[in-house]
Amino acid sequence: MKDIFDECQMGDLKLKSRIIRTGTWETETDEGGFLTPSIYDRYENMAKSGVGAIVSEIFALDHKDRFYPYSTNMNYKGFIKDYKMVTDIVHKYDVPILGQLAFFYYDDGENQKVEANDISQEGIRKLQAEVIMAAKKFSFAGFDGIQINMGNNFYLARFMNPYFNQRDDKYGGNTENRVRISSEIIKVIKSTMDMHVSCRINPWDVRKGGMASDESIAIACELEKAGADSIQLTARTISQIYDKGVKHPFLVYVDDLIDAVDIPVVLGGSLRDMATIKEVLNNSNVELVSMSKPFVAQADFLSDWKENGDGVAICQSCNNCYSKKTSTCFKY
Ligand SMILES: Cc1cc2nc3c(=O)[nH]c(=O)nc-3n(C[C@H](O)[C@H](O)[C@H](O)COP(=O)(O)O)c2cc1C
Repeated sequence: MKDIFDECQMGDLKLKSRIIRTGTWETETDEGGFLTPSIYDRYENMAKSGVGAIVSEIFALDHKDRFYPYSTNMNYKGFIKDYKMVTDIVHKYDVPILGQLAFFYYDDGENQKVEANDISQEGIRKLQAEVIMAAKKFSFAGFDGIQINMGNNFYLARFMNPYFNQRDDKYGGNTENRVRISSEIIKVIKSTMDMHVSCRINPWDVRKGGMASDESIAIACELEKAGADSIQLTARTISQIYDKGVKHPFLVYVDDLIDAVDIPVVLGGSLRDMATIKEVLNNSNVELVSMSKPFVAQADFLSDWKENGDGVAICQSCNNCYSKKTSTCFKY
């Protein structure tokens, strides 16, 4: 029987529970771009409450990126100093923390929004070098690893999706080729740094000709082969585990994915109460789950869950924290 507060492992990382606070932009910088003090409290409240691991907010490569205004710039002067304070606070409670890198656009020097079909191999090298440097920066700032967001509609997700990538060189065509841009990055990080590499991926893509769920599993296998330490899925609602006795299709996919890889897989999206999480954990191969909005509503809610053995997050899933891009709860 799996329990939420079991001590467990996510690859090389030791966790105090099966709950991952997933990537959530904080919008916590002042006009100079420096972190505001409340961010340290938020991380401390999460870390001391019994969370298994924390994924930071999104960091983009460059200031013209789509989500850049809502999160911290990783190229500001104080990044390493400020985030070393954040990672030190979190480590005080023996909680591992990953820095999340995600970029929507890529600027190859000639085109600020160069897409998969148009970027030159030289441009690909530049992109790979920048991601590897970001991992290095995360390691200087004390992060235990990097999470590269290759899910949602981010650049690397589009690059590996046959809907967007029709290249005819070694970075296009079959699955291995479309994932190569990311595999090569992972290989360099793993061979040069002591960093956990987590890849956030999509379970499928609903566009006609887009990535299907069996290809998503093949992609996860390629990432594992390159050295990835864990896979995290982007959100899908799994509030209904069984509908009229039939297992939710997303959980069927997740079980197949977990069977196909030997690295941990993190599932998340719309999880709000202990009962549902326990049901997911004990009716599937899932070992780790993630949450975002409940931590926006109450950073330390897991303390109550742990103490009471039962609990429901106060988050009402109104989604204002997301749509208004402030990362503050509008209800509480
Ligand atoms: C305010 C807010 C900010 C978010 N920021 C990020 C982010 O920086 N990176 C990311 O990968 N996902 C981000 N997400 C998506 C969450 O990681 C998560 O996938 C989604 O909210 C569904 O999980 P939940 O139902 O537990 O909130 C954000 C979500 C919210 C609500």
